[in-house]
Amino acid sequence: MKGEMKLRIALLPGDGIGPEVTREAVRVLQAVAELCSHDFEFQELPVGGVAIREHGSPLPVNTLDACLASQAVLLGAVGAPEYDHLPPDRRPEAGLLTLRQALGGFANLRPVVFHEALAPASPLRPEKIKNADLLIVRELLGGLYFSEPRGFTVEDGVAVAAYNTLRYEAHEIERVAHVAFQAARRRRRRVTSVDKANVLETSQLWRATVARVARSYPDVELEHIYVDACAMRLVSEPARFDVVLAENLFGDILSDEAAVVNGSLGTLASATIGGTVDLYEPVHGSAPDIAGRGIANPIGAIASAALMLRYTARLEQEARDIEMAIKQVLDAGYATPDLQSASTRCVVGTAEMGQLIAEALAEIVDLRRAYHAV
Ligand code: NAD
Ligand code: IPM
Ligand code: MN
Repeated sequence: MKGEMKLRIALLPGDGIGPEVTREAVRVLQAVAELCSHDFEFQELPVGGVAIREHGSPLPVNTLDACLASQAVLLGAVGAPEYDHLPPDRRPEAGLLTLRQALGGFANLRPVVFHEALAPASPLRPEKIKNADLLIVRELLGGLYFSEPRGFTVEDGVAVAAYNTLRYEAHEIERVAHVAFQAARRRRRRVTSVDKANVLETSQLWRATVARVARSYPDVELEHIYVDACAMRLVSEPARFDVVLAENLFGDILSDEAAVVNGSLGTLASATIGGTVDLYEPVHGSAPDIAGRGIANPIGAIASAALMLRYTARLEQEARDIEMAIKQVLDAGYATPDLQSASTRCVVGTAEMGQLIAEALAEIVDLRRAYHAV
């Protein structure tokens, strides 16, 4: 291992379980830095509900400036029930969406890898989830989330209608399709493109554009699937998928669904690439139902930190070490409550899970050093 990589990370814990899980991701990153002589510098900044409370905005200017000046952003989650009555542009979630737009990353990678130890935690049958290893590539800056016009039609002070626009430009589809095909080349060379081309014009453009991009990747197999059928196949035959390419809203929904392969949303990580600064965040939200109790699963956040080392820092070995440490701790029978099953040997809280993963990581690195020394 070469050592001495310097990485400036903007840390945005956010709301609910966000601070609880990001604390563990930082613990593991600090363990990597110490073990491998890297220099990871963290700057903690407010986002979401906590930023509205302290600064009157879900994305204060200071937070955005610091993110833009960093090499990577690690975010926990945003959203809190006290803001649920607010219109979309004033909610904590608006802070995250503005941040995504400002950082410019248009490809959100959400890997879903089956963990043998978690098979009993999944509601799906073990023979169906065995070998599931898919990568959802979600378009992150277009579609219903950002298109204009949007809003409410108000009559006599009462909202009588509401509307959103679903618009995609061909270049937005092309750039994310290239990311999917390139990812497929490093995997099993198969892209499943998701759309609703039997109903929507945007999906017809999506399908035609993806098919055109596919011509530059003759070594990658492309299939098109309607989103409703995809939702069904993701739980009935998850192992049939390699790379799943989807527009913004479809990708959002399908990734939560795919999480059931591992029994809990708490295990899924994500990386957003293609912009000026990469953004890493677990797929789950602020989980107000369990926040503040020290029981949230930090694996999604820790695995997001591993993706940060892989994609931004290009520290592939360190990323793999973290993933191996997670696997070893799960294989040893440790589980946070959301992963608890008949095969769990010990139920642990958020901090203990983070500590166990950091310890496993230290052993993995030491073992490799000892092996290379002989
Ligand atoms: P959620 O992902 O917060 O929770 C869904 C369910 O999964 C809950 O039962 C929760 O307890 C469980 N869960 C989620 N993460 C977990 C973890 N790490 N460990 C254990 N269990 C976990 O989704 P929701 O309840 O629909 O939304 C809550 C809030 O989070 C909303 O305000 C929503 O807008 C926001 N949200 C934010 C993000 C983000 O910041 N990236 C993502 C999704 C939802
Ligand atoms: C996600 C979340 C966000 C999204 C929300 C909180 C804006 O659900 O990252 O999956 O819809 O993109
Ligand atoms: Mn989501």
